[in-house]
Amino acid sequence: MGASVVILDLDAARGAAVAQEIGGIFVQTDVTDESAVADAFESASKTLGNAPRVVVNCAGVGLAARVVGREGKLSFDVFEKTIQINLFGTYNVMSHAARVMSDLQPMDNGERGVIINTSSVAWQDGQIGQAAYSASKGAIAAMTLPVARELARAGIRVMGIAPGLFNTPMMEGLPEEVTAKIAAEVPFPQRLGEPKEYGLLVAQIVENPYLNGTNIRIDGAVRLAPK
Ligand SMILES: NC(=O)c1ccc[n+]([C@@H]2O[C@H](COP(=O)([O-])OP(=O)(O)OC[C@H]3O[C@@H](n4cnc5c(N)ncnc54)[C@H](O)[C@@H]3O)[C@@H](O)[C@H]2O)c1
Repeated sequence: MGASVVILDLDAARGAAVAQEIGGIFVQTDVTDESAVADAFESASKTLGNAPRVVVNCAGVGLAARVVGREGKLSFDVFEKTIQINLFGTYNVMSHAARVMSDLQPMDNGERGVIINTSSVAWQDGQIGQAAYSASKGAIAAMTLPVARELARAGIRVMGIAPGLFNTPMMEGLPEEVTAKIAAEVPFPQRLGEPKEYGLLVAQIVENPYLNGTNIRIDGAVRLAPK
């Protein structure tokens, strides 16, 4: 399997670097901005020669805050920002993807494309401080079935991936002893997941036409403790 890749991300430096590494194209985009996402799809389709058949939603933030913190501090700001980026951003990209994919010619098996959204195991086992994150990821997981049902007529599949603890820049910010403690809680393999293992699941979802309307955990059997 091979693919031409267009990366949309807010982070211009990292996005461009990854695009260069894989021979792809980078379009700086804020996923929460509707017209920016529309423009990004238009320029991506122009560069590729057609609309994408595979869209993987990954943009997200892992902000943490207690509902009621020290000295009664509330965290509405964290909740709002997390929902804005993780949920509205995913919905925004998914909507534009569905629209442009619907105009594609179907492939031999009737399929026009597949949309893969990224939730998190915190969708089901959110920890203390993850009310906002879990709410955003739970909503992403909950959209999988209704949107798959809606887009079935267009031959577009919708899937959700719920990763456990992965070795990405989101986790790199943590002190080493914290990462080691997290890894020790994963039954097997007892380590963080690697981005390429997430990629293997994406590839399987793309290749397997019977995967539709469900969320898959990829987590080494981890179940997060309350904290
Ligand atoms: N790493 C993990 O352990 C883990 C576990 C479960 C779920 N996830 C999810 O996987 C996805 C990818 O995370 P990651 O671990 O690669 O972290 P990451 O921080 O490396 O990647 C997230 C990316 O989202 C981008 N982004 C943030 N806000 C944006 C916006 N408004 N518009 C466009 N781009 C924006 C960031 O610039 C960054 O490149 C996220 O949705 C995250 O919640 C990660």
